[in-house]
Amino acid sequence: MIRLGILISGYGSNLQAIIDAIESGRLLGVKIAVVVSDRADAYGLERARRRGIPAIHVPYPPRKNGAAARRGQDAKLAARLHQQHAVDWVVLAGWLRLLSNDFLTEFPMRVINLHPALPGLFPGLHAIERALEAYRAGRISETGVTVHLVPDEEVDAGPVILTRAVPILPTDDVDALSARVHQVEHECLVEAVARAISAPTPRT
Ligand code: GRF
Repeated sequence: MIRLGILISGYGSNLQAIIDAIESGRLLGVKIAVVVSDRADAYGLERARRRGIPAIHVPYPPRKNGAAARRGQDAKLAARLHQQHAVDWVVLAGWLRLLSNDFLTEFPMRVINLHPALPGLFPGLHAIERALEAYRAGRISETGVTVHLVPDEEVDAGPVILTRAVPILPTDDVDALSARVHQVEHECLVEAVARAISAPTPRT
């Protein structure tokens, strides 16, 4: 059984997609060992607890405390995932925080990230809003979803496991486009987790 640690920051609809896929037998040989949120009020924690999945809030130090404090918390989190939850793979499912190498080196090529845009485009926050702006400026005709491995600290970049385009319609506003992107995210994340764990890439 492959044990997943799923990191979230908010609503947790992508976490829910994984829970549903496991419960319906679409994602086999997988168990969610723990759900972690950096925000105490993340609704995704509630989704996990309702299913009896361990769900923990891990507060991060404020930005003014500097990068060393953040890295220290990353290292502690990685140790906790290994030691208390025996996590094999980490899935960033709407985790809105950069993970430093202090975390990533503890899970080499075993961290999966979901990015609501096509590979290499709109890294960072508000990717859907920025894609819509680019569409309105005539620079792009479609956006998409990417699920990739996280080898290092580069934001929303790494070997692509799966990507899928999402057309942008002239009538789209942020809500309409977000709804379609999220639907595709839910499908892609489940499929990408299945692919990644069944064809592990070599450790670097
Ligand atoms: C998703 O769009 C994800 O790509 C982005 O944050 C959103 C999280 O949604 N990074 P949810 O919490 O899974 O509902």
